[in-house]
Amino acid sequence: MGNALVRAALDAGAPVTLITAAEPPAPDPQLQVVRVETAQQMGDAVRASVVGARILIMAAAVADYRPASVSPEKIKKRDGTWVLELEPTVDILAALRDAPYRDALLVVGFAAETSDLLENALAKLRHKGIDLIVLNDVSRSDIAMGADHNEVTIIDRDGVVAVIERTTKDAVAAGILRVIRSHL
Ligand code: CTP
Repeated sequence: MGNALVRAALDAGAPVTLITAAEPPAPDPQLQVVRVETAQQMGDAVRASVVGARILIMAAAVADYRPASVSPEKIKKRDGTWVLELEPTVDILAALRDAPYRDALLVVGFAAETSDLLENALAKLRHKGIDLIVLNDVSRSDIAMGADHNEVTIIDRDGVVAVIERTTKDAVAAGILRVIRSHL
């Protein structure tokens, strides 16, 4: 979905910075790619890139937890079960709430949900203080993660503003950009 949004934004004539842990789309003179591997690196790259930007779209499925400690050596097998301790990563969007440049940005998040879809997406929009949220149902195998198609509901602070029925991710991306344009 992230790469489809990049292609749609380039088609619309926007210069784009893509911060990604995945394989980026084909090179383009208007596209700058920042490769990251961890939630921490993604947060740092987002904060460094949004100053002066007009729109931030966070389509990434960022890891919510990371291992609390990292062993410098191979961990040897032991008998019995092993409990791995995880600690939370920083919520990149929520952390932007009070940033000085926040008001200059239109911030768009994604909500990956499997139940109480609308309620959860709206709660996420409010908790993270973002302008628009794109809800997708990740329990379905015919759309969203790993599929070529998606079906989304776009929500702002007042409620649902658009529903894009199941179609290609490129068409969904173009539809999301139309809604963004109308909110600028
Ligand atoms: N997100 C973020 N930083 C994180 C985790 C998520 O900025 N550490 C962003 C995602 O890029 C997305 C939005 O927050 O735009 C919602 O992500 P999602 O995975 O749906 O929800 P979470 O906030 O992780 O909450 P939960 O997993 O409990 O549903």
